[in-house]
Order: sequence, then structure tokens, then C-alpha cells
Amino acid sequence: MMMHENFSPEAVVTISDLFTNLPALTSDRLVLRQLHSKDAQDYYEIFSDDEVTRYYDVDTMTSIEQARALIDRHDAHYRNRVSIRYALELKETGKVIGTIGLYNFKEAESVEIGFDLNRRYWKQGYMTEAIKRIIDFTFQNLRIYTVYGGFLKANTASENLMKRLGFKKGKVADDVEIKPGVFETVYFYRLDGEHTGE
Ligand SMILES: CC(C)(COP(=O)(O)OP(=O)(O)OC[C@H]1O[C@@H](n2cnc3c(N)ncnc32)[C@H](O)[C@@H]1OP(=O)(O)O)[C@@H](O)C(=O)NCCC(=O)NCCS
Repeated sequence: MMMHENFSPEAVVTISDLFTNLPALTSDRLVLRQLHSKDAQDYYEIFSDDEVTRYYDVDTMTSIEQARALIDRHDAHYRNRVSIRYALELKETGKVIGTIGLYNFKEAESVEIGFDLNRRYWKQGYMTEAIKRIIDFTFQNLRIYTVYGGFLKANTASENLMKRLGFKKGKVADDVEIKPGVFETVYFYRLDGEHTGE
């Protein structure tokens, strides 16, 4: 299904608006829209892969029920105005090939992103394209001028992605318990935008 953006490029979107009716965003090859339970099969495909979960705080999935359960959790977080999960849908086929989460919103200040991509779609620039769109939306419409990306130190694919997008290395958190009894070093990269608002 082809979707169009339903707001003007310069519209101010409040965090409250986001949690009332999540706007769809479009880029060259993708539609970014809310992740739904109907995406469980595609979501399962992403997370039933040890390479994707290697540096991620989700265990490799072995059944589609686990994908449904995680989507339900994302839904609950959305209803409770805690976080958002955008699905990255290929314009051409409608397949969901990845997701981007937005959380730790600080009004007029900062937001954190998390991301995952089906391994079959790595190395084709899809995540770079999707995060660029999210950043433009964050700076121009949400008027939030700092975006953080946190990931494990060993996750070089994520570090390269952040650098490619112009993020700079910020805080380093040692000994973060990412799974019960598992402690790792987490890097936070940050991107600071120009204040475009009046
Ligand atoms: C992090 C992750 C999304 C990065 O995937 P990716 O495929 O490297 O990222 P992109 O989709 O942006 O593709 C960029 C790559 O495609 C290449 N590329 C090809 N066409 C491109 C284009 N049009 N634009 C940009 N890059 C392009 C780039 O050169 C780059 O390859 P390189 O790193 O070898 O230089 C992926 O490794 C992943 O899902 N990891 C598991 C989940 C995870 O750990 N998430 C982080 C925790 S929050």
C-alpha cells in the first residue's frame, strides 16, 4: 500500500501529536510507519537471526509468537506514550525489512534511536536512508535538536552507520547490564542539529 505524508514539510509536530496519530514518513525507497501485529512474519524474519541479535538486547526468536509478543510490547509502550516503533516498509513490495525505535523523548531537547534491519537487506544503504529521514523529521518537525544512538562497543556496523550519518562519539557507559548477568560497554553517539525554529 502506498502511503503519503499527511503533514507539510515545515509543520510543527508535538510529542503529544506523535503519540496520538503517528505520521508516516517517506524516503526514496521506504515508507516509515507504525509497526503493527500484521507485520509479525516480517518481524520474525529479522529477529530469528543470530547475526541481528548478536549485539542487541533481544534473544534470537524461534517462533512467530515471540515476534507477536514483542510487537504487543511496542504497542503498549506507544499507548503509554513511552516509545515509538517505526516499521521500514519497502515501497516496491510492502515488505517490512527493519524497524527504528524512538525513545527517551525530552521535549525540545533530545531523543534516542535504536534500529534493526533484516540481514538480507544489509549493505544497501536502507538504514542510512531511513535514519536520515527520521533525523530530518526530528529537527524540522519535532524541533528536537539532539539525537542519540546507543549500541554495544563491539557493534562496528552500528558505529560505522552513526559515523556515516555525521554522529559524533559522546558518552561511554561501562558495565551496563544488557541481559541478566551480562555486562557490556555501551557507546552513545550524538548528532546535534541547527535550531531552525523561531
Ligand atoms: C546496524 C545495521 C542496521 C547496519 O546495517 P548496514 O547494512 O550496515 O547499514 P545501511 O543499510 O545503512 O547500509 C550501509 C552499507 O551499505 C553500503 N551502501 C550501498 N548503497 C548505499 C547507499 N545508497 N547509501 C548508503 N550506503 C550504501 C554502504 O557503503 C555501507 O556499507 P559499509 O558499511 O560496508 O560501508 C545492521 O548491521 C543491523 O541490523 N545490525 C543488527 C541490529 C543492531 O545491532 N542494531 C543496533 C543496536 S540499536
